Amino acid sequence: MKEIAIMRNRTIGGIFVASLALAAGAVSTRLRAQADVSVQPVGTSALPDIQPGNDQWIVQNPYRADPAVYATAQRIGKQAYGKNCARCHGPDAVSAGIVPDLRHLDPQESGDEWFITRYHHGLKRDGKVFMPPMGEMLGQKTGWAIRSWLDAKHE
Ligand code: HEC
Repeated sequence: MKEIAIMRNRTIGGIFVASLALAAGAVSTRLRAQADVSVQPVGTSALPDIQPGNDQWIVQNPYRADPAVYATAQRIGKQAYGKNCARCHGPDAVSAGIVPDLRHLDPQESGDEWFITRYHHGLKRDGKVFMPPMGEMLGQKTGWAIRSWLDAKHE
């Protein structure tokens, strides 16, 4: 019960941040991003470990080659996106326009490295967090799962 309440608070916090962003524009979004770096991990044990190691970051999606693994990755990625990225990048990967729309990333192999680098390290300019280092907190398996799901959303 307590856990549910906490999750609900986080969600409300996320919606608050999103509406602030819409109301006040990009600068506020970016400043708010520093304060709001809570994450909700999802289970990734159904996915194979990354070779040579989950902590050794690679630059191509390892889950695309095997259709069964890819399908599992997309299912987990959808959930992970909804819990951790949607509050800024928009529900179902559709951005409201201030934060980048992740459907427009370069698809497949050509966009993998860009995606995973931003996901891993985020983006800071002049000491301000623009995109939080989500990958530091959620790990590499979750990152490639989200990337797999975004493949299907590409436009
Ligand atoms: C607190 C808000 C916030 C959250 C949460 C967030 N992002 Fe971001 N993200 C941003 C902002 C702002 C940028 C744009 C940074 C810039 O270039 O100024 C960005 C940029 C990116 C980019 C680069 C996009 C491009 O077109 O260059 C990727 C990839 C990305 N985010 C992935 C993710 C993923 C995956 C998650 C969830 C695990 C996530 N982000 C969660 C705010 C957020």
